[in-house]
Amino acid sequence: MVDQKTGVLGLIGYPLEHSLSPRLHNQAIVELGLNLVYLSFPLKPEQLEDGIRAIRALGLRGVNVTIPYKERVLPYLDQLDPLAAKLGAVNTIVNNQGLLTGYNTDINGFCRMLEEDGGFRIRGKRALLLGAGGAARAVAFALCQQGIAALMIINRTADKARHLQKTLHGYYPGVRLATAKLSRPELTAWSDPLDLIVDTTPVGMAPQFEVEPVIPLEVIRQAHLVVDLVYNPPETSLLRAAAQVGVQGLNGMGMLLYQGIEAFKLWTGQEPELNSWRELVKSV
Ligand code: ATR
Repeated sequence: MVDQKTGVLGLIGYPLEHSLSPRLHNQAIVELGLNLVYLSFPLKPEQLEDGIRAIRALGLRGVNVTIPYKERVLPYLDQLDPLAAKLGAVNTIVNNQGLLTGYNTDINGFCRMLEEDGGFRIRGKRALLLGAGGAARAVAFALCQQGIAALMIINRTADKARHLQKTLHGYYPGVRLATAKLSRPELTAWSDPLDLIVDTTPVGMAPQFEVEPVIPLEVIRQAHLVVDLVYNPPETSLLRAAAQVGVQGLNGMGMLLYQGIEAFKLWTGQEPELNSWRELVKSV
């Protein structure tokens, strides 16, 4: 029941029609009996600064930030969590009496997915990362922060992979970093030991899901876990290929759910029920 004391949470981004966040968070609010509501606030780029000011003026408790504003909101915030500052991207804002703090729960969300759903410990492992965009940056920081030993960044645009490598090297000089241009011959020649493969590119996403995975089966076979951040379809051709050679696979739904759980915890101190969110996702 909404009343005078109802606190408001929300989501800013553009466009927002397909986001699951309002349904997930409102379900958790009801289940936990909290006097909150989570709303969707689609903001055009020219409205972004006013939108952030409105968080203070209207006393919103906090918001999630999604594409295309995760980087663009930074100048409008009062302070940043150190990890969000390193990454240069924010997906959660907490309003503490007018003081706006930016966090990035994608990082913890990714780590929790690997650990809790994949039973995978990151420390000391070797990973191959496909992509060098926003999602790849969050994954790369998550892996480095948790003590990955070696990270190979492979991207269609080689320069972007090198740029990410340089940024990471500045913060994590102890991690063995390398880059390569995305090409099948390059990957076929891969022979280094490997524990984890993470694909952050949209390749395999609906409606174009019948594409051949760019990573050859011989390389997939060497890994213990393959993650494809695409979750529509739930099983991409890369995950099918992993299953074919007996390697465990995870899609990106876990990261989406865990980053939401971490955001909800920052706003309320309480943790939504993961299984209840999984049921909701299955029903939509
Ligand atoms: P996100 O926030 O989802 O990471 P992004 O920042 O636009 O989105 O990054 C998309 C990533 O997927 C990039 O690494 C992109 O490669 P480029 O840097 O060469 O653009 C990669 N990507 C997109 N489409 C691709 C395709 N068809 N094949 C291979 N890589 C692709």
